[in-house]
Amino acid sequence: MPHERFHYGSLTEFEQTAARESAWLPLSEDLSTLSRPLTMRNHTLSNRIAIQPMEGADGTLDGSPGELTVRRYERFAAGGAALIWFEAVAVIHEGRANPRQLMLTEHNLDAYKRLVDRIREVGIHANGYAPLIIMQATHSGRYSKPEGAPNPRIAYNNPLYEDTPLPASAILSDGELRQIESAYGTTAALAERAGFDGVDVKACHRYLINELLSAYNRPGEYGGGLPNRARFLFNAMESTRSSLSSNMILTTRLNVYDGFPYPYGFGVKPYAKPEDELTPDLSEPLKVVSELLSRFDLPVIDITIGNPYKNPHVNRPYDAGGYVPDEHPLVGLSRMTQCVSTVQCAFPQLAVIGSAFTYPRQFSPALASGMLYGNHCQMAGFGRMALAYPDFANDILHSGGLDVKKVCLTCGQCAGLLRQGKPAGCVVRDAEYRKVNA
Ligand SMILES: Cc1cc2nc3c(=O)[nH]c(=O)nc-3n(C[C@H](O)[C@H](O)[C@H](O)COP(=O)(O)O)c2cc1C
Repeated sequence: MPHERFHYGSLTEFEQTAARESAWLPLSEDLSTLSRPLTMRNHTLSNRIAIQPMEGADGTLDGSPGELTVRRYERFAAGGAALIWFEAVAVIHEGRANPRQLMLTEHNLDAYKRLVDRIREVGIHANGYAPLIIMQATHSGRYSKPEGAPNPRIAYNNPLYEDTPLPASAILSDGELRQIESAYGTTAALAERAGFDGVDVKACHRYLINELLSAYNRPGEYGGGLPNRARFLFNAMESTRSSLSSNMILTTRLNVYDGFPYPYGFGVKPYAKPEDELTPDLSEPLKVVSELLSRFDLPVIDITIGNPYKNPHVNRPYDAGGYVPDEHPLVGLSRMTQCVSTVQCAFPQLAVIGSAFTYPRQFSPALASGMLYGNHCQMAGFGRMALAYPDFANDILHSGGLDVKKVCLTCGQCAGLLRQGKPAGCVVRDAEYRKVNA
């Protein structure tokens, strides 16, 4: 299928293209559903719009938020989204994705308290409500670069990534994994003291926990069958739960499909025919969600797919960037909506947040509303759009839609900056990022 750039002049044209490509993208022009409140435990969220975690490589070397971090969250808070899923925060220094990735410690706790307070203050001042703030706890695994140079800590060697296998010392031992599990609890306790409303044990995008979910051939306690592959996730959740008081939200951002064949990807069928080896098969991810619900009683889950480094078109559909995917962006988007819907339909009681709503630009509110109307998710999560157009939520909620001159163009430059460890933001729409990256 030839590659097609975004050019749709109307929702009808967008819809017709989706139909031509057999892309499943439920649309609704009635955006009122996005203004419906949502109750999550003892919180009432004012609307159905979430800002997905968006890290910016702009913290200080000790892991505190920097000036640009604070600016980003002030803009997000003023923008009106009812939920801010706060970016990846490392649980240990070795697991930082870059030297400027945030890391919450006893020493910088006050800086986080100030930031969380500031987010609430700005939200109340601008919109009359504070957003719910969930902090994402992470270990970057194979993407660890704590001092700037790659220092991968992997679950297993993977020929899709390594031409030559990494030395055994790069593979985290069972003992090291057990130690890292407990670091999630330590960070979670700090997150509660900082004032966050909840903690996400990040299990996506090929960072450590997500990679373990596909460690089919790893020997020992953390590889082989699903209970072993999911052991770290459940132990880290357990460590987190036991460190939090009962009113704190415990959750995860989970990859339900990696986009790699067996035995290297989660959410695919083992021993599938070559033509089916990349077809999502959510049987195992659904078992994981079921166990998460029964053991940890999650009120909310954030669903995502793909890997931002190796198959970014699966993770965040685009039509201009590092490589030209061999699938239509709407087909990629449709894979995401189907995966999200599969989880929501299997667990109607769970508030599922869908990912990757940015690609349809000015038509993304119609997709968000269509997904909500059909009960395919309960909240729509936007990533890149929030960097380009921080007040997008208020425009959807109060101005009837998005301004085409402000929407994210999905050019991928924000992700490119992050990969280089530079302050990541929208260089197209936000002059501040042109200045700091000049
Ligand atoms: C610059 C940048 C930073 C990101 N940081 C995170 C992060 O900290 N945690 C995470 O789970 N996903 C992160 N993501 C992925 C986004 O949350 C989101 O899933 C992705 O951009 C697709 O959504 P979109 O199409 O709405 O942008 C990041 C993406 C970008 C481009």
